[in-house]
Amino acid sequence: MKKKYIIGNWKSNKTSAEVEEWFIQSKDVYEREKNSITDDIRIILCPSFIHLKEAHELSRKYNLPIRLGAQDISPFGAGAYTGEIAASQIADLVEYVIIGHSERRTFLGENETLLTQKTEQVLKAKLIPIYCIQDEKTPIPEGIAMVAYEPVFAIGTGQAETPAKANEIAQKVRQKRKVDTFIYGGSVNPDNIESFLTLGEIDGVLPGGASLTPALFWEMIRNASRT
Ligand code: 13P
Repeated sequence: MKKKYIIGNWKSNKTSAEVEEWFIQSKDVYEREKNSITDDIRIILCPSFIHLKEAHELSRKYNLPIRLGAQDISPFGAGAYTGEIAASQIADLVEYVIIGHSERRTFLGENETLLTQKTEQVLKAKLIPIYCIQDEKTPIPEGIAMVAYEPVFAIGTGQAETPAKANEIAQKVRQKRKVDTFIYGGSVNPDNIESFLTLGEIDGVLPGGASLTPALFWEMIRNASRT
């Protein structure tokens, strides 16, 4: 069965107490709504590194069908790299790692060389990179099977890309190389999620802001289940 991915990127949001509150509320919503969530939905949450363990434990405690991803990774392996978090250090907590988000490219100056190193580390740890591209021209390193198209103008602005254009970018990328999973991100919300998932080329979405509130997050999942 082809999966539909809903990947919440929390960015630098939430304290530990707020993470706990999100899970408590999610448990209630999930209990009520689980019958309207289809088996093809794959839910991934990407909190800050510091909250991965807590999210892992709360997700288990409340029996939520949530897998975890990291928002970034060290370009190096384990060792003397102060402040960095190596893929091997979180491999028992996460299955996915976002690489190349435009916020990191813009605010932290991440370039293709660095992003290729990060990709190599993620693959070495047997995790799945979610590689962000800003348009169809963004280079994609070897070994990437999951690509997320996130046009900068659509991020946090409420102005999502048109589903038709996102679908077209997916086609263009797939003409150039083999991509198993194509994701769209940028102002995804409960009202527009279905329009992205029904065009054929888009396998999932990567909401930021709308993933922070349990009610909105689970509403997106419910609506995605209808597609
Ligand atoms: P918004 O959904 O808040 O626009 O963020 C998208 C994003 O950058 C996800 O990685």
